[in-house]
Amino acid sequence: GRSLVIAIDGPSGSGKSSVAREIARRLGLAYQDTGAMYRALTLVCLENGVSVQNQAAVEELAERFYFEQWFDPGVGMVAAGLDAERALDVTDEIREPRVSEAVSAVATNLGARTELIRRQRAAIESVRNRMVVEGRDITTVVAPKAEVRLLLTASEAARLARRGAQLASSGEQQSAEQLAQQVLARDAKDSTVVDFQRAADGVVTIDSSDLDFDQTVAAVLRLVHETV
Ligand code: C5P
Repeated sequence: GRSLVIAIDGPSGSGKSSVAREIARRLGLAYQDTGAMYRALTLVCLENGVSVQNQAAVEELAERFYFEQWFDPGVGMVAAGLDAERALDVTDEIREPRVSEAVSAVATNLGARTELIRRQRAAIESVRNRMVVEGRDITTVVAPKAEVRLLLTASEAARLARRGAQLASSGEQQSAEQLAQQVLARDAKDSTVVDFQRAADGVVTIDSSDLDFDQTVAAVLRLVHETV
């Protein structure tokens, strides 16, 4: 088929992962969660005694660590490790608070970023440009020529409520205050390298604060059908 890249950016808790996955499922496209790659590299650092503050060591690890993501939106599995022989299923571990706390240090490492962006672009090509790609810099850096470019936002209150519900369902124990502190601190740090709060030229914003999941999916599908 012809190229159909749907680039979706947004802050944490904007609902972009679950929405992006559902859009991919509905349109029969592959799905790439780029945050999972930053999280996996962070986990590999933590598990192998590499300080996330050590710029050179993190960059070096970015270039050689093993990372695999299943692009079938129904699977969502991620494997990672120092190399292919030592790779493990890290689908659940990459969501742990210790990873969320450390991930911005990896994401603000420009050398590591360059390498992860290269891998993300290669992943899009590997499925012949038929993919929903979700993250912070997809509409601007990874796939600025995507057929559909979307910024999915939500109010701070809505985002915190969604993140809280997500963590509760995964069995993580965290107070509302801890969670707010963590999410807002992460957004502030991430904002120093990528601007995912405002839409770049040509990027459509959908604010999901007052939309439920189905309404948000419908709004994105409408945009896709209007655009392509
Ligand atoms: O989307 P998620 O919250 O899983 O992303 C985890 C982290 O990965 C973000 O907080 C950010 O530091 C980083 N990230 C990024 N660029 C992307 C996707 C994620 O810097 N395209």
